[in-house]
Amino acid sequence: MTSFVQPTSPEQLFTLGPIDPVENPYDIYRAMRANAPVGESGYGYYIASFELAQQALLDDETFSSKSNSPDYPGIGMVFGQTIVGMNGKEHLKHRNLITPALRPRALGCEFREGARSTADALIDKFIASGRSNLVPDFTFLYPLSVFVQLLGLPQEDVHDFHQWGVDLTHVAADPERGLRGSACLAEYLGPVLKDKRDTPTGDLICRLIEAEVMGERMTDAEIISFLRLLITGGADTTYHLLGNTLHRLLSDRELLERVLANRDDIEPLLWESLRWEAPVQFVSRQTNREVHIGGVTIPDDAPVMVIIGSANRDEAAFDNPDAFDIDRDQGKSLAFGYGKHYCAGADFGLAEATIGMNAILDRLEDIRFDDSAETPSTIRGVAFRGPSHLKVTFAA
Ligand code: HEM
Repeated sequence: MTSFVQPTSPEQLFTLGPIDPVENPYDIYRAMRANAPVGESGYGYYIASFELAQQALLDDETFSSKSNSPDYPGIGMVFGQTIVGMNGKEHLKHRNLITPALRPRALGCEFREGARSTADALIDKFIASGRSNLVPDFTFLYPLSVFVQLLGLPQEDVHDFHQWGVDLTHVAADPERGLRGSACLAEYLGPVLKDKRDTPTGDLICRLIEAEVMGERMTDAEIISFLRLLITGGADTTYHLLGNTLHRLLSDRELLERVLANRDDIEPLLWESLRWEAPVQFVSRQTNREVHIGGVTIPDDAPVMVIIGSANRDEAAFDNPDAFDIDRDQGKSLAFGYGKHYCAGADFGLAEATIGMNAILDRLEDIRFDDSAETPSTIRGVAFRGPSHLKVTFAA
């Protein structure tokens, strides 16, 4: 039986590990927005309202992303230097090198066909039994397997990638484990890069090797760091997006029927799922100077957490924000971030999730939660939120 954690204050919430099973951060977020939209927690400063979150993410000179670089404790320690930790011209250069390689259009039909066949192969493994726990069987493995295929790596290595990816996400609670995962990935990818430089195979790694802006290319170390970022930033996020969206559909029969009848609704469904249960609940920044925001003075060089999960539920920005409504105007959601660091893989993630959702809806007829499951499925987590399990039955 899964035991849940229910913190009662921002301090408690933010001193928990990123994957602790917190069931409901939204009551705390609501109180933060009402009492102190900018404040101090166990971690440093936080920004909880939509308007101020947007303001901070847009002002990248004051709220620097250097907090995500290897010079600060956190993800930079295990990713190495990547675009999420860069600023100014260096960031722009890397962004221009990387984003073209990640556009679904650039990846071509191969990407769509490959993603669909990856989804089908995973479903083939359990469809005959008429039941599945879609978290380990599908939502977790699917984005990782798509990456492994796109990177031109052997599918049997997906489990190693899984292990190293999980190790990376433990860096805050267990830095040694995080660093071990980081080193294993570098050890694995170093020879792969060498082989691909010698014999190009046309996959995503080759596109990254060949990407060039104004005569500059990425070094092997930069590519390896970027691939580490993709494994967590790209696969873990889509994993939670798929889990949260399926959880919602399975909890609302009418919505499920609507989406089954009109697959164009998958797009607004995914956007509303991203707003409602943002897979990335907060992003971190470090101030470059003293700044006054929301009536609070944040000193120079202070850590700041911009809480996307709270901004997306802000009643000042969204009508009835706690309701799940796929007909609402989605233009404003901060789920993919905002400003210069806006998610470089947003189109990729949405296309991949749409293909995954269609595969599930096409193939698992009469899908519903498994009534015999010991515990009901609940969405939980602090930094990354997703369902505890998705035990389902369907017509075999
Ligand atoms: C589908 C769910 C996804 C969500 C919710 C998500 C969320 C985010 C957020 C919030 C940021 C901003 C980070 C910051 O401001 O510090 C970001 C950045 C980024 N994401 Fe995503 N992401 C998703 C999928 C992906 C995928 C599939 C990829 C890769 C194929 C990807 C690659 C990136 C990269 C490279 C950045 C860094 C951009 C920069 O710093 O300029 N993401 N993502």
